[in-house]
Amino acid sequence: GKGPIVLQGAMEMEVAPFIKRLKGAELEVYGDFFFWRGTFGTRPLIISQTGIGTAAAGAATALACALYQPSLIVNQGTAGGYGDLAVGDVVLASALYNANARYLGRDGLRFMELGSLEHESVAAMDFPDVPPLLETDERLRYILEAFLKKSGASYRTGIIASSDQWNEASEQIRRIREKTGALCEEMEAAAVWMTAKRFRVPCAFVRIISNNNERGLSFDPSVCEALYRLLKNFLM
Ligand code: 5AD
Repeated sequence: GKGPIVLQGAMEMEVAPFIKRLKGAELEVYGDFFFWRGTFGTRPLIISQTGIGTAAAGAATALACALYQPSLIVNQGTAGGYGDLAVGDVVLASALYNANARYLGRDGLRFMELGSLEHESVAAMDFPDVPPLLETDERLRYILEAFLKKSGASYRTGIIASSDQWNEASEQIRRIREKTGALCEEMEAAAVWMTAKRFRVPCAFVRIISNNNERGLSFDPSVCEALYRLLKNFLM
């Protein structure tokens, strides 16, 4: 598509660094959903503050797709690292694990986890032990991967766990890791993926580790500026 890029962040601190540098910014408000339209470098850009969690992120994505017909969506922000991930490390999603969905068995709601349309789920008769993952757009991922490699940033490409939960308990985190191999967790990406799919808009998910509850590293908001400095050259 020829539409603008929509750049999303859930919290004010995650969109503020981008808004500060947006030229000719105009705010559009729909309920509690905020969109800033302007120019970044030489390109039109729309910055969307989605709010926290899957319901808000899904709604903000539907609004963005209907209002602005974006060519692509970049969902970015903080995430809680698993395992050895350190604060400041960047994760590019190869796939998302919808940790909100519950696995109800053979006749259960597998389509919820797939985030797919209903007719696809009806045909799906086999239920694997590991819930299906939401694969990210291959072309966009390839472009971002090349960009991150060139930037010299400390990044990993892998699975991001997404749900309406902030997991403090290492037992819960360990279960998710063992089941899916996820590198980190956050609270919007799966909903963005499922909603954008219905508009056929490709999405990329780039997150920076702000905390690691397995390693006892608490939330550091300064990573938001670091992720801005990394992504700005991609957006221009
Ligand atoms: N677990 C869940 N969400 C996290 N976020 C940052 N760290 C974590 C974590 N450990 C992000 C979410 C949400 C907000 C609370 O910060 O995506 O928007």
